[in-house]
Amino acid sequence: MNNIGIFWGSETGNTQVAAEMIGKSLGLPSSNIRNIASATLDDFAAFDVLIIGTSTWGAGELQSDWDSFFPKLHGADFRGKTVAFFGLGDQVIYADYFLDAMGILYDEFAARGATIMGAWPDEGYEYSYSRAVRDGVFVGLALDADNQDDLTASRVTTWADQLRRSL
Ligand SMILES: Cc1cc2nc3c(=O)[nH]c(=O)nc-3n(C[C@H](O)[C@H](O)[C@H](O)COP(=O)(O)O)c2cc1C
Repeated sequence: MNNIGIFWGSETGNTQVAAEMIGKSLGLPSSNIRNIASATLDDFAAFDVLIIGTSTWGAGELQSDWDSFFPKLHGADFRGKTVAFFGLGDQVIYADYFLDAMGILYDEFAARGATIMGAWPDEGYEYSYSRAVRDGVFVGLALDADNQDDLTASRVTTWADQLRRSL
């Protein structure tokens, strides 16, 4: 099994809860599940596979700790790293910006050479636009704790199983 690290950023706890669920599904120790607020770029080096989680705030903006961390990504080299994403958003109130932050991080990691995994179909969501959708699919696991929290556990399990099989 690859060494997997989950890095999450969360304002009100939803992304943290999802990160812990994903970690549990993958059988990871809690030390592999890190808050980006207290992480450094060097922390990424310990892992072959990074799972990157963010909620979206403002109108299509990064969660605040990811926003602070973001400039550090510009100097990073993710060649040889496998990276998967998950995002938390609200498809009803923010239908024009649904999960945009996941798309922002995707662009940055992809531009720096990461091998991306974990795309997720957009069936079962109602939104107008998402920067996290490419070629008709989400670039990572799409979660909406505000409107579809009842689906979160099954989405996490399905996605984590798919990820485990493709690693
Ligand atoms: C002020 C505000 C702005 C938000 N902006 C967006 C947005 O642009 N796009 C989106 O998909 N969700 C948006 N959301 C929804 C949050 O991303 C969602 O509630 C998420 O579950 C929060 O996760 P967290 O507690 O981990 O930060 C916004 C929520 C609030 C309160």
